[in-house]
Amino acid sequence: MKKPVFISLTALFGILLLADCASHRSFSGNGPVHSLKAIFKDDFRIGTALNTTQIEEKDPAVDALIQEQFNTVTPENIMKAEIIHPEWSRYDFTQADRLVAYAKKHHMTVNAHTLIWHSQLPSFMHTMQNTDSVRQYLTSHIHTIASRYDGKVYSWDVVNEALNEDGTMRRSVFQQKLGDDFVVEAFRTAEKAAPHTKLYYNDYNIEEPAKRAGAIRLIRKIQAAGVRIDGVGIQGHWNISSVPFQKIEDSIEEFAALGIEVMFTELDLSVLPSPFKDNITADVNQKIEYNAAMNPYTNGLPDSVQQKLADCYGNLFRIFLKHKDKISRVTFWGAGDQQSWLNDWPVQGRTDYSLLFDRQLKPKPAFFSVINLKKTNL
Ligand code: XIL
Repeated sequence: MKKPVFISLTALFGILLLADCASHRSFSGNGPVHSLKAIFKDDFRIGTALNTTQIEEKDPAVDALIQEQFNTVTPENIMKAEIIHPEWSRYDFTQADRLVAYAKKHHMTVNAHTLIWHSQLPSFMHTMQNTDSVRQYLTSHIHTIASRYDGKVYSWDVVNEALNEDGTMRRSVFQQKLGDDFVVEAFRTAEKAAPHTKLYYNDYNIEEPAKRAGAIRLIRKIQAAGVRIDGVGIQGHWNISSVPFQKIEDSIEEFAALGIEVMFTELDLSVLPSPFKDNITADVNQKIEYNAAMNPYTNGLPDSVQQKLADCYGNLFRIFLKHKDKISRVTFWGAGDQQSWLNDWPVQGRTDYSLLFDRQLKPKPAFFSVINLKKTNL
């Protein structure tokens, strides 16, 4: 006769506690907190940008937060051309290799960022006049880096920010020397070099109708050339005064209709006054002079602004969840507010509050407004 199976109350409690820990863990002594990656595990991946200090795990509190909250990472700077390819015939993979090891150790995927971009180029590219040299740079840069990391990173932002606000092609060094087709060439080279890696186009403001139309034309052109493109990244650098919710939703639908993944790849919401008309730029080359009026919240964020930020994040994630079948990843451009590039761009030395975790790495009301959307399903 089979023995009856008894589970003691203590064992049962242990099992329940373990199951609970998978989605509700505490970190850094801040009490119980939900984990974004656990909560959204059936919806989309949740990512953060990583800088060098974080890849090298130099700050235990940030490290714990990152490992608890995120299952995918994007290097904030270290795979950009000026760092990974400092001289014409010299590559430096030191930091990129560390990133790959970090992600492997923590079971995270890497979205590598970025192969072809007009910003943060090595200095030799600033003086490049000759078309053949630019073509050779494009091909060998992509080939060398993408093949090295094929099978080690999950995806590449193959081309970043090739479009103007009106949807025409930006006059970058690549466009000027190689013509509009440099984008197709870049994807063709990446496809050969990295057959096991997803290939994406990434840009800011491509939720805006004119620029979106340009992005759709670009993606269709790549597809029509028989070249692989797996997804499009909407960067998502917005301001709480003007998050374009409807345009974001329309963009998810229109991009997904092209048969590719849609991602939000650099999400942050500035709460500070924007020096730009309609807040619509994320051009890293824009630099605006500091003045105190542009930096109103040095002593903390007023409750009303904190609430507005929480509402904006809540509304955004409501849209993301509604379209989770089309969205594969949502990546924040940093973990805690201290790390955000928005403290120094476009005005240096400001105090912004753009992410879900504050300067002490505590979850903000925005964090709870995001996770509350899923509460009933937990
Ligand atoms: C930013 C980084 O966050 C900064 O540290 C760096 O100084 C400039 O670049 N669009 C992109 C990102 O694709 O690579 C940019 O990252 C932000 C805008």
